[in-house]
Amino acid sequence: MHACSHIFDSISPLIMKLPIDPNSIKGFLDHEEGMALFNKALIYTKRGPCLEIGSYCGKSALYIGSAAKENNQTLFSIDHHQGSEEQQPGEEYFDPDLINDSGKGINTLPYFLETIKRAKLKDTVSPIISSSEEASINWQQDLAMVFVDGGHSLEAAMADYFLWHKHLIPGGLLAIHDVFPNPEDGGRPPFEIYTLAKESGYYKEWPMIKSLAFLEKLE
Ligand SMILES: C[S@@+](CC[C@H](N)C(=O)[O-])C[C@H]1O[C@@H](n2cnc3c(N)ncnc32)[C@H](O)[C@@H]1O
Repeated sequence: MHACSHIFDSISPLIMKLPIDPNSIKGFLDHEEGMALFNKALIYTKRGPCLEIGSYCGKSALYIGSAAKENNQTLFSIDHHQGSEEQQPGEEYFDPDLINDSGKGINTLPYFLETIKRAKLKDTVSPIISSSEEASINWQQDLAMVFVDGGHSLEAAMADYFLWHKHLIPGGLLAIHDVFPNPEDGGRPPFEIYTLAKESGYYKEWPMIKSLAFLEKLE
């Protein structure tokens, strides 16, 4: 088989399953990482719902939500929609399209809701407009998959790990974005929580896809 058609064959079934073009959504997730999330969610949401921390404009929700929909499952998507530190005006990842009414911060909620509507995922994706910390208070639901892609400060990453991994069922999947084993490639907090989880003895590791790490909770 010709090399190009081989690549096309591996991508086309996914594209067919996605209701809208992921490139039409603002976000930081690479398509290969999105494909990996889609494929993992297709497997793990057979056993229960998924929760993500960090909705932004809905790119990861498109991949995970489309897979969850196939299993009639829910994706809970948490974000206060005020952006992370590095997304504020004047910071490295600021996008002027997202400026809020006060002009001093950002608001990603309208973009997120529009993505969910366009993708026909309103019955699958349950938006939780709140900080991760507030959403975790009194949370009862078991989760089959948790995707951590929220604040990247050490405090935020640690909170996301400790608040949510305890709700994963045995055999469930913890996915963490922006894990950079080499400090020259990017910030450390997601790598710190990934290391903590690995060393806890509660998880076995799946191969990483770019900066996306996957850890399965032991039965
Ligand atoms: C890197 S973006 C998420 C990208 C998204 N997963 C995607 O695929 O495009 C991080 C998001 O986390 C949110 N965030 C940061 N700290 C948070 C916190 N403590 N609680 C809830 N959301 C938070 C920000 O508002 C921002 O939208």
